[in-house]
Amino acid sequence: MTATSADTLTRRPEARERAQALLSEMTLAEKIGQMSQVEATHGYAPDYLAERLRAGDIGSVINNVDVGIINELQRIAVEESRLGIPLLIGRDVIHGFKTIFPIPLGQGATWNPELVEEGARVAAREAAKCGVNWTFAPMIDISRDPRWGRIAESFGECVLLTSTLGVAMVKGFQGDSLATNGSIAACAKHFAGYGAVESGRDYATTNIPDTKLRNVYFRPFNAAVDAGVSTVMTSFSDLNGVPATGNRYILTEVLRGEWDFDGFVVSDWDSIRQLQIHGLTENDRESACEAVDAGVDMEMAGDAFSGNLSGLVEEGRVSEARIDAAVMKILTLKFDLGLFENPYTDPESLPGYASEPALEAARLAALQSCVLLKNNARALPLDTGAVSSLAVIGPLADAPYEQLGTWIFDGDPDLSVTPLTAIRDFVGEDVDVRYVRAMQNSRSRDTADFDVAASTAAQCDAVLLFLGEESILSGEAHSRADIGLPGAQEELVRRVRAAGKPVIAVILAGRPLTLSDVVGEVDAILYAWHPGTMGGPAIADLLFGIESPSGKLPATFPRVVGQIPIYYSQKNGGKPPNRDNVVHIDDIEAFAPQTSLGMSAFHLDTCFTPLFPFGHGLSYTNFVYENVRVSDDEIELGGTVTISAELSNRGDVEAEEVVQLYTRDLVGSITRPVKELKGFRRERLRPGETRTVSFDLHTDDLTFSGRDGRRVVEPGLFHAWIGGSSDIDLHTAFRIVASRS
Ligand code: NOJ
Repeated sequence: MTATSADTLTRRPEARERAQALLSEMTLAEKIGQMSQVEATHGYAPDYLAERLRAGDIGSVINNVDVGIINELQRIAVEESRLGIPLLIGRDVIHGFKTIFPIPLGQGATWNPELVEEGARVAAREAAKCGVNWTFAPMIDISRDPRWGRIAESFGECVLLTSTLGVAMVKGFQGDSLATNGSIAACAKHFAGYGAVESGRDYATTNIPDTKLRNVYFRPFNAAVDAGVSTVMTSFSDLNGVPATGNRYILTEVLRGEWDFDGFVVSDWDSIRQLQIHGLTENDRESACEAVDAGVDMEMAGDAFSGNLSGLVEEGRVSEARIDAAVMKILTLKFDLGLFENPYTDPESLPGYASEPALEAARLAALQSCVLLKNNARALPLDTGAVSSLAVIGPLADAPYEQLGTWIFDGDPDLSVTPLTAIRDFVGEDVDVRYVRAMQNSRSRDTADFDVAASTAAQCDAVLLFLGEESILSGEAHSRADIGLPGAQEELVRRVRAAGKPVIAVILAGRPLTLSDVVGEVDAILYAWHPGTMGGPAIADLLFGIESPSGKLPATFPRVVGQIPIYYSQKNGGKPPNRDNVVHIDDIEAFAPQTSLGMSAFHLDTCFTPLFPFGHGLSYTNFVYENVRVSDDEIELGGTVTISAELSNRGDVEAEEVVQLYTRDLVGSITRPVKELKGFRRERLRPGETRTVSFDLHTDDLTFSGRDGRRVVEPGLFHAWIGGSSDIDLHTAFRIVASRS
């Protein structure tokens, strides 16, 4: 299974020729204008931008979503500038526009490319309705550090999952053709390595060896390029000593030279001028020179290009051919989008905001994003016949804005259906729902309302505790060093627990949290991320068993911060930890004692395993995997092997399971991860049903970048696992041979 199998976008065959013809008429100043994007947020943009638009000084604007203003900006550009070139209108449409879908990390937990594509399609139509024609998504930075606030914007830690969902999002935004009303250009960001910032501190340095760049961080971008993504954004971060925005190796040698990327590269916000702050250049002129030479084609919200490129060309330090190459790609996208034929937006030509189908798609995405981490003694689902009163407690039960998550510039909290509202709607008059917010927000240390929370818990048959982080605690520039439940929430859990009633925690958060001190205090945990507009109804359906949870973790949950980075596809090392040494307390892996004779890769004070592994997620039914098999013990290079298993639903409810295929390449010319996800699929089974699930694996799916950076697949022994989590034992093996003897 590859992430690149998606149909690629249909481009307009004549776009390049038309761009070439237009380019030949342009002055140097007009060309540099196309390479400049300016902010249009403040005041009445047509007034303060008009002169520059008429002069052809602006290629794109960012951050205006008033259709009247956008149409006027387009009119000035098209009717009053010498060449009449329309504008790219950029906006961060990250996980919805008006209708907000789960944060991308939550969408990652659906493991469902169709849903992700549909979510992006809805967002594209809603954004296009007000004239936006370019979004800065998907963010496909591999994220293995939950302290990093931007993990919320990612699809998590895994190369295949991120690549597949990234491609799905690109397809959703761009549709089959960019010229279709309701399609917008996508932008794969942030190239490259941004997710590896030291200690998860946003904007910090990254140091990533080339083999890791190529085998991990580059892969989703390569897949997005193969799927026809229109643009790529550089990262703010320093990469191995050369900040990404000035890094010719990644932007030109790899992206264009090796992958044939034919779209354009945009800097991140003012990141060209920041090359000086990094200490790479002395001033803006040098920064512009480094960035354009590295391969940046458009500057976002800065004036290093507009102020310096013409001087650099006159001095002969930047060739006009380099400028032409950048402008060609920008113009080609404008032709591909059909902007020359129709630069204006008629909002009536697209469906209304938050339409019924859009809300239903958001509800389904939220439903499939929730991960059941723990469910002792079938605490969930709740049986409304057996409970007559429910305590709903916590700062996130009824927080319409917070459930939307980060990056929701245009989202409307008034559209949010909160869990409290949905629970009340669901149970009607049958159950007495008593709500205690208990804390003003998740960070509060004020425990004044905890007595009321505890006594309400004592008076009810069960407790639903809505905990987590509000949206401001994740996202750009919102990293945390301690990723436990903030404020006095852990104390709230203990106080409520003491009431002696079943306690179900529903956690809304923008990252994996360290829950070691909470997991033993509650009967069940449903992890809902920031679920978006329709989070409430989705959560209620799961709590009351209308649907069984089917989300799976897109990122490993550490026990303590000191384990980070912890991810499933690690290397074995020469002294791997030994599972036999793991000590269990109450059936939970607690720690593995390190003695002076231990001499293997343990921490002294915690178990080497995570609290919850990548791919984990429980169901209300009992899925059993058996008989993992391979079609052939031996395959030739270029061949395909089929790996299958029998999956049975041994419980009593119909449910969906995300079946996962992992492999390990046991010996390589560079060491290989202990497991790599190679395929996944959702399967829905009725109680008692058994089904054979199989994956075809071509030897090309097993390639990696070797010591010389080239992709290879090496003959040798492979293990293959099929199961419902990365932490599975049931495996088989096959061997790749150069040719059969
Ligand atoms: C900075 C962020 O890093 C980037 O992801 C975003 O698209 C731009 N700002 C524009 O808002």
